[in-house]
Amino acid sequence: QNNYKVTVCGAAGGIGQPLSLLLKQNPLVTDLALYDIVHTPGVAADLSHIDTKSKTAGFIGADQLGDSLKGSDVVVIPAGVPRKPGMTRDDLFNVNAGIIKDISNSIAKNCPKALVAIITNPVNTCVPIAAEILKKAGVYDPKRLFGVSTLDVVRARAFIGHALGVDPQSVQIPVIGGHSGVTILPVLSQSQPLFKGNQDTIEKLTVRIQEAGTEVVKAKAGAGSATLSMAYAGARFAGSLLKGLNGEKNVVECSYVQSTVTEATFFSTPLVLGKNGVQENLGLPKLNDYEKKLLEAAIPELKKNIQKGIDFANA
Ligand code: APR
Repeated sequence: QNNYKVTVCGAAGGIGQPLSLLLKQNPLVTDLALYDIVHTPGVAADLSHIDTKSKTAGFIGADQLGDSLKGSDVVVIPAGVPRKPGMTRDDLFNVNAGIIKDISNSIAKNCPKALVAIITNPVNTCVPIAAEILKKAGVYDPKRLFGVSTLDVVRARAFIGHALGVDPQSVQIPVIGGHSGVTILPVLSQSQPLFKGNQDTIEKLTVRIQEAGTEVVKAKAGAGSATLSMAYAGARFAGSLLKGLNGEKNVVECSYVQSTVTEATFFSTPLVLGKNGVQENLGLPKLNDYEKKLLEAAIPELKKNIQKGIDFANA
């Protein structure tokens, strides 16, 4: 097919703008719809002058949400409020949960078959909210709803690559679980090339990956959370969804999806992506004893996060 419509919801934000810029450069995108409650006419006009084939259109305000989504193949959602110092991703819950609910309702009406990738935090809870809302609307397909946890993989590749003195792009590493603190489980024992080190080095790197978002929040000192690296990770993930849609083989990404791999009903593992979204869940990678302990710590936290989303959607 080779021509796809992508909608970015929250396209005027710190993540949304660079994400839209990167998507504007993706040759599989022919229509790029930018939705936000502010500034999208300007962002769209600006991007539309870039000499790539996609047509860019801006949509502003709730009244135009439906039009931005109509006919979309992939919807990427970074709409919401970001973290300030001292806030956890969970503190964002109330505002962001409402935004996800509204956008999900509109997706159900306007592009029920789209692949939906949620960046809005807390991802662990926002994805189950979207699932419940789509279910109520009778259009939920668990193979088409994703939480973007790619930034954890991107960070792990960067940290390992620089530590080993190899190109980060050549590093392979599964990061499984969720996208917040202890729910983030980098499987360092399976990294290629192998990250060798004593237990102390391994634990330090594990915690650095789990807390990498906070590193950025602190460094930005009140100006928000990760935007550029998140936009990169979001564009890479959307790009993989598009490659899968377009029939490319062996497209594998870790993403937070409905899952039976563990007791947590949403869980990130490596997935093969295809024409209908998740083609195959590759399941848990091999874990060593330390990683098994991390998994045990992640599951109860994830279950809480998931239940919170289900309760919100059904309240
Ligand atoms: N519908 C659409 N867009 C909205 C809505 C809404 N109801 N409410 C807010 N937005 C938009 C804002 O207008 C803004 O342009 O979402 C954008 C958010 O941008 P920023 O405030 O710059 O936040 P950002 O750093 O991009 O983070 C957005 O992604 O990673 C997560 O934790 C992060 O939840 C946060 C989200």
